[in-house]
Amino acid sequence: MSKKQEWTGRLGVILAVTGSALGLGNFLRFPGLAAKYGGGAFMIPYFTAFLLLGLPLAYIEWSIARYGGMRGFHSAPGIFSVLWQRRAAPYLGVLGLVVPIGIYMYYVFIQAWCLYYCWGYISGALNLGRDVSAYQGFFENFTGSGANGSIFQGLSPALVSLLICYSLNFFFVYRGLGGIEKLSRWGMPFLLLTAIIVLARVLTLGTPNQAYPERNVLNGLGHLWNPPQGRGLLEALADAQLWMEAAGQIFFSLSVGFGVIINYASYLTRKDDIMLSATTAAAGNEFAEVGLGGLITVPAAFVFLGAAGVGGTFGLGFVSLPAVFAHMPFGQFFGALWFFLLFIAAITSAVSMLQPGIAFLEEGLNFDRRKSLGLLLLITASGSILVTYYSAKLEALDAMDFWAGTFCIFLLASCQVIVAGWLFGVENVIREATHGSRMKIPKSLPYVIKYVCPTFLGIIFLLWCVQKFPAQFDKILTNDATQNAVFFLGSILILFLILTFFAVRTWQKSSIMSHPRAKGP
Ligand code: ALA
Repeated sequence: MSKKQEWTGRLGVILAVTGSALGLGNFLRFPGLAAKYGGGAFMIPYFTAFLLLGLPLAYIEWSIARYGGMRGFHSAPGIFSVLWQRRAAPYLGVLGLVVPIGIYMYYVFIQAWCLYYCWGYISGALNLGRDVSAYQGFFENFTGSGANGSIFQGLSPALVSLLICYSLNFFFVYRGLGGIEKLSRWGMPFLLLTAIIVLARVLTLGTPNQAYPERNVLNGLGHLWNPPQGRGLLEALADAQLWMEAAGQIFFSLSVGFGVIINYASYLTRKDDIMLSATTAAAGNEFAEVGLGGLITVPAAFVFLGAAGVGGTFGLGFVSLPAVFAHMPFGQFFGALWFFLLFIAAITSAVSMLQPGIAFLEEGLNFDRRKSLGLLLLITASGSILVTYYSAKLEALDAMDFWAGTFCIFLLASCQVIVAGWLFGVENVIREATHGSRMKIPKSLPYVIKYVCPTFLGIIFLLWCVQKFPAQFDKILTNDATQNAVFFLGSILILFLILTFFAVRTWQKSSIMSHPRAKGP
C-alpha cells in the first residue's frame, strides 16, 4: 500500500477539488456547447442537470470516497469493493480509471495550445491583426487540423508545447498531494482574479464597431441567455443529444462521475465536513463556468464577430477570442493573460486526472510512485500520439471527447448512482455525508439519489440510444480517426479490467477486503 497521504486542511482539499473542476471545461467547453445549442436552450438542461445530477452526485462521491478512504482504498475499483462486497464490484469501478486517463490524453493537447498561445502573445507571433481568418490559419497550422500527421514533421511548436505540458504535469503528480495542493493554493485565486479582470474588460466593450450597432455587449449576453421562443424551444429540448451533452458537461466540469473526486476525497478524515466542501467546490465551479467562462467568451465573440462568429468549441476559444483581443486596447497583454489563465486551469485539472490511476497502481499492484508514473506515461503518451497524429479536423480529439468525456462519464456517473444509492444503500451514504457536517442535509436528498438520479440518467440514455446511437456507431465504422480513438479507449478499458483482476488478488491476500460489510460509518 502507498504511504498514507492526507490533505493539510479543509481549505486544501476544497482548493484541490476546485482546481480539478476549474479547467478548460469551464472556459472552452461550456461556452462552446452553450453557443452550439443556441445559448438559452442549452441552459435549461444544463441547470436541470446541475441540480438533479451534478450536486447529488457530488455529495455521493465525496461520501463514498471518504468511506472507502477510511478503509484503506483510494481508487474507484477499491472503493466500490468496500461499498458492495461482490466479485463484480471492483470491475464496475474500472471506468473511474479509464475516464480520467482517456480524457487526459486529449486534454493535455489543448493545455499545450494554451501554453503556446500565451507564448504567442508574449513573443508577438499572435499579432496578426483584426482579420479572424488569420487566426483560423494560425490555429490550423499550429494544431495540424489541416492534415493528419502534420505536427510530427520536425519538432513543431505543438509538439514542443505538448512535451513541456507532459513534463510539468508528471512533475506535479510525482510530488504527490502536497504538490497538487500547493499548485491549487497558488493557482486558483490567481485564476479567478485574472478572469475577473478580463470579464470587466469584456463587459465594458459597449458597441466597439459602430458599423454594426446590433453587435453590442447586451445582445451578446442575450445570445448566451435567451432561449428560442415557442416551437423552437420545444424542438431544441426534444433533442436527446442536448440533454446528454448538458449532463456530460456538468459531470466534466465538476469533475464528478470522472474518477477524480472519488480519489481526492478519499484522503479526507472523519472530522472533515464533506457536505460543505462539496457544496463550496461545486458553487465555485459554477460561478467560474457560468459567471466567468460563459460571460467572457460568448458575448466577447458576439460583439466582435456577430452571431456567425460564435460557433464550435475550439473555434470560439482559439480563433474568435484572439480576434477579440486584437480589437481591444492592450490586447496583447490581455491575450497573454487569458491563455496563461487557461493554462493554469488546465494544469490543476490535468494532474487530477492522473491521480486516480496512480492511486490504483500503488494500492492495487504495490507499484511505487515512479513505476506507476512510468506506466501511466506510457499509456497516456500513446493515446496523445494517436490524438495528435489524427489531427485532421481534430477528429480523433472530438471522438475522444465524446466517447470518454461525455459517454463514459455518463456511464460512470450511472454506476456510481446505482452502487451508492441502491447497493451500498442511500441511508449509508446520508449517514456518511452527515458525519462532521455542519450543513443541513436537504430532506429530499435521499429520494433524489435513489429515484430521481437513476430515472433521469436512464431516460436520457435510452432516448439518446434511440435517436443518436446508430449515427455514432456508423461513424466508428466509417471514420478512421474515430475508429482508432474508440479502439484505443476500449483497449485501455480491457487493460484496466485485467489489472483490476490482479489488484483484487493483492487485496484478498493482504486481507484488506475482509472489512465487515458496510456496517455504517
Ligand atoms: N473539470 C475539468 C474541466 O472542467 C476537467 O476542465
